[in-house]
Amino acid sequence: MDWPALMLLGLFANTWVSAEQFTPCPEKCTCLTAEHHVKCTYGNLTTIPPDVSNSTIELHMDYNNLTFLQQSFHQDLPEMRALFLRNCNIQTIKPDTFQKVTGIQHLYLDANEIQELENGTFEDLSNLLYLYLQKNKIVHLQPDIFSPLKNLIALYLTDNLLAEISDGSLNGLTQLRWLDLGFNMISNISKEAFKASVYLRKLDLQNNLLTSVPPFKSIISLQVLRLSGNRIRKLSSTSFSRNLKSVSELYVDNMGLKRVSSLALRRLRRLDVLDLRNNSLTSLSVSKLKSSTTIYLTGNPWKCDCSIAELYIRLLMGKKNDPEQEVQCKSPKGLEDRSLTTINVSVINYVGSSMY
Ligand SMILES: *[C@@H]1O[C@H](CO)[C@@H](O)[C@H](O)[C@H]1NC(C)=O
Ligand SMILES: *[C@@H]1O[C@H](CO)[C@@H](O)[C@H](O)[C@H]1NC(C)=O
Ligand SMILES: *[C@@H]1O[C@H](CO)[C@@H](O)[C@H](O)[C@H]1NC(C)=O
Ligand SMILES: *[C@@H]1O[C@H](CO)[C@@H](O)[C@H](O)[C@H]1NC(C)=O
Ligand SMILES: *[C@@H]1O[C@H](CO)[C@@H](O)[C@H](O)[C@H]1NC(C)=O
Ligand SMILES: *[C@@H]1O[C@H](CO)[C@@H](O)[C@H](O)[C@H]1NC(C)=O
Ligand SMILES: *[C@@H]1O[C@H](CO)[C@@H](O)[C@H](O)[C@H]1NC(C)=O
Repeated sequence: MDWPALMLLGLFANTWVSAEQFTPCPEKCTCLTAEHHVKCTYGNLTTIPPDVSNSTIELHMDYNNLTFLQQSFHQDLPEMRALFLRNCNIQTIKPDTFQKVTGIQHLYLDANEIQELENGTFEDLSNLLYLYLQKNKIVHLQPDIFSPLKNLIALYLTDNLLAEISDGSLNGLTQLRWLDLGFNMISNISKEAFKASVYLRKLDLQNNLLTSVPPFKSIISLQVLRLSGNRIRKLSSTSFSRNLKSVSELYVDNMGLKRVSSLALRRLRRLDVLDLRNNSLTSLSVSKLKSSTTIYLTGNPWKCDCSIAELYIRLLMGKKNDPEQEVQCKSPKGLEDRSLTTINVSVINYVGSSMY
């Protein structure tokens, strides 16, 4: 092959072309012209390049050093849909930062050093659908901070330092479907916290410091609720209110849970998955659960006497072979480490009756 042919081949094989070849591409960036993507990742940049083309749809800025983020686009970028600012060492975001990119739907701000979101930060982003703020150091949410985000569907705040969710923190998020607040230090969620987010479907609160199930007033279509790894020791008849009747997956594992009252789950009529693994349960009443609910039970100190009869019958009838759904007996003496379903029913009844 001769040189011109090789060059031609190179041109087609290499869709990421550098600045000089087509429409202007910012220094230290590459531009995917047909798709209108601009990629400036690992550019060692300290500001967003001002000369990004006005037809840009995606701007990738991950792994730069932007410490202090402010408005730096010279022109409106009406076509922009996704802005990637992950791992950029961002500490502060000036409220005018997104003034010229009001069309963005996806904003990636995860894995930065953000401690506080200033009032007005999201003022111009009513088109935003997904906001990624996980892995920052956010300690507090100002009231109304998210209220311009009228169309937001998903908010990720996992792995921050939040201690409470107060009344106004989530104001205005009327379209929210997914909310991830896992791995924070939340011990207090106010009664009105979710009042705007009526249609929330999936709420992740795992690994926080909650000691009781928070009030989820006004949420009406929640399907997945993850409370794993909190400090909730007891589920009672008032733990889950009536408006949670559409919950189909409930994760209450790894919580040191000691007791689930027989009425605790009565309102969760659509439960398909109940995760109770790694708790301190000795018995469980399952009479209020539909027969098709999958219950994960391992890692509890089950007491295999007559008080476990309901569960015993359910397990025998279910004939599940999933090891995570097994009841491993911790007591009484003689039945330690036995799997409940392998024990003869007369033994269980005998152990129970001998107690009285
Ligand atoms: C990054 O930029 C700084 C100055 O802004 C410079 O000192 C450093 O050598 C650059 N690092 C790389 C890998 O280019
Ligand atoms: C981009 O700017 C050029 C020149 O200023 C203008 O003709 C064009 O309409 C603009 N495109 C968009 C999408 O705003
Ligand atoms: C990032 O920029 C700040 C100042 O803007 C500087 O102090 C710091 O050393 C830079 N970090 C890296 C990894 O380049
Ligand atoms: C931010 O706005 C909220 C409500 O709009 C207000 O309560 C709060 O004091 C403001 N904070 C600052 C630092 O201006
Ligand atoms: C929880 O928050 C509410 C309102 O923000 C406050 O009145 C209450 O004292 C807090 N409770 C705890 C235990 O921090
Ligand atoms: C239960 O705890 C054990 C030991 O701490 C751990 O290895 C396992 O992953 C946990 N299981 C679940 C489902 O969290
Ligand atoms: C269960 O125990 C009873 C009484 O000890 C015995 O008659 C029966 O055969 C046992 N059933 C099984 C399946 O081992």
